[in-house]
Amino acid sequence: MGPIDSPGPNGDYLDRLMRRQSFHVLWPLFAKATKPAKELTESFSALEHLRPLMKCVGPSRVIHVGDGAHARTAALFAIKTEAENISVDPLINEVLVRSWRDEFSILRFAWRKSRIGDAAAWLNTLSTRPVFVTFVHAHVHVDEALAGLRWDAAFTLACCLPGHQLTSKGAPHAQGEDASVLSEDRTFQVLINPASALAGQLNERA
Ligand SMILES: C[S@@+](CC[C@H](N)C(=O)[O-])C[C@H]1O[C@@H](n2cnc3c(N)ncnc32)[C@H](O)[C@@H]1O
Repeated sequence: MGPIDSPGPNGDYLDRLMRRQSFHVLWPLFAKATKPAKELTESFSALEHLRPLMKCVGPSRVIHVGDGAHARTAALFAIKTEAENISVDPLINEVLVRSWRDEFSILRFAWRKSRIGDAAAWLNTLSTRPVFVTFVHAHVHVDEALAGLRWDAAFTLACCLPGHQLTSKGAPHAQGEDASVLSEDRTFQVLINPASALAGQLNERA
């Protein structure tokens, strides 16, 4: 394939988001970013890659690790899915996210202002339901974080620390470059916990 035919970055996620009524609800959180299109498309990539797996299971919980001060990926999932969402980041701006949640009456959107290692024991005590995890440009060692959590599937999008942000444990369920992410760092992986019920379900279908 020559350079002209190469699939370059595209605005598909942005177009899809901006066509929806829900866009105006998300906008106050994303407008605060220096590069809102970048942030919107990074979070949407997590949704795009996890939603098919979430549809395979019943009610689920999504833990958004390293979600930044504005908990934007949790916000997107709260609006676009039926899952419970918990954003975990030591830098969460609690005043801001509480005010956004209350202004738009957002359900299934919670947060923990903490490092993931310090929140893991509490997260593991929550009611048993399938658990998905997002790491959207999170400055976190993905394999270490997952080792402390009860989880079924995870999505990671790597930026400046790909050695930590991409798994080195076995073959991912999916991986590649997501051309709809409007950032220079668009390598993603979808991981399935081999010990999870979801893994069994996917193996049966294969
Ligand atoms: C580059 S920012 C990404 C923020 C957000 N996901 C985004 O894409 O806008 C990396 C984030 O990882 C968070 N972080 C670093 N170490 C963490 C840890 N151990 N647990 C949870 N979050 C962590 C930082 O506080 C920071 O908000």
